[in-house]
Amino acid sequence: MKSIEWSKLGFEYIPTACHIEYKNINGKWDRGRLVKDPYISLSIAAECLHYGQAAFEGLKVYRCQDGKVRVFRDIENAKRMISSANYACMTPFTEEMFVDAVNKVVTANIDYLPPYGTGGSLYLRPLIIGSGPKIGIAPSDEYIFLILATPVGPYYKEGLKGVNALIFEDYDRAAPYGAGRYKLAGNYAASLKAAKIAKEKGYPVVLYLDSKEHKYFDEFTSSNFFAVTNTGEYITPESKSILPSITNMSLIDLANHIGIKATRRSIEFNEIDNFSEVGACGTAVVITPINKITREDKSYHFNSEKGPVIQKLYNALVNIQLGRAPDPFGWMRLIE
Ligand code: PLP
Ligand code: COI
Repeated sequence: MKSIEWSKLGFEYIPTACHIEYKNINGKWDRGRLVKDPYISLSIAAECLHYGQAAFEGLKVYRCQDGKVRVFRDIENAKRMISSANYACMTPFTEEMFVDAVNKVVTANIDYLPPYGTGGSLYLRPLIIGSGPKIGIAPSDEYIFLILATPVGPYYKEGLKGVNALIFEDYDRAAPYGAGRYKLAGNYAASLKAAKIAKEKGYPVVLYLDSKEHKYFDEFTSSNFFAVTNTGEYITPESKSILPSITNMSLIDLANHIGIKATRRSIEFNEIDNFSEVGACGTAVVITPINKITREDKSYHFNSEKGPVIQKLYNALVNIQLGRAPDPFGWMRLIE
């Protein structure tokens, strides 16, 4: 194993000891195996390659202050991945199989878990693909479910300093009755062009409005949107087109727990002048402050980097994840 500078990690794939891989042929999952080779062999006619029958997840494992290894809310990732698989007509696995796969892949890659205090974590990327050959458009008869593990640090190099977000009028993420609430690979392929243009203009992140009217906030490319109002309330969009973020769900519970009112509702773009802080939340981005939102020729500035609510929520969440604070909701699962 090559030595890793833990505190310098970004969000890049680093090959690790192995991944865990399961195959499903004719509707039945096998017992899975740990595989050293980080390549898979697929038919050139595999359904996932042509028609995008693929869904994935993202979750993190932490070395906690007490030296123990814990994963954050993996059962929620299992549930969400099963719902994505069902939506794309893939044969899902069970929650038990998912949890067992997490345990096995973490244990086998324990040397790649960043030490406590480095700011890093072991990122797990579960993936399910239609692997059987198909030339007509129809669900595959064969599937591969795998989980890879790779050590990561902050998603954005700006980290907690915050980033600027751009809204496009001519790119949408998900249709009103589309697949936006599922973690399908194709949603991300469809976001690459807008993200590239935004980056070229100096914006690391794209913020999407609802695609029907461009009137309400939806979410970012890889994270949910929330704002803190001038009256100190945490608000986050209610929308059928956004991914139900596990981080956001947790922040709502945490906010209420520490006395910050938290509401999920439709949020009009016009409310933007009432925001004091804006944040992006998700597994990869944790909570990233958004300092500026630009729409056409107008920019809106926020005190997010030094925002007191964002700081409180960030500390509350990370302290639970690293075992520095009690876990009142039972979110962390010990991996022995
Ligand atoms: N929204 C999108 C589009 C995402 O890709 C992600 C990342 O998984 C999130 C939101 C955040 O979800 P979670 O907090 O479950 O990681
Ligand atoms: C995650 O936060 O785990 C995600 O899956 C976002 C990803 C697209 C980088």
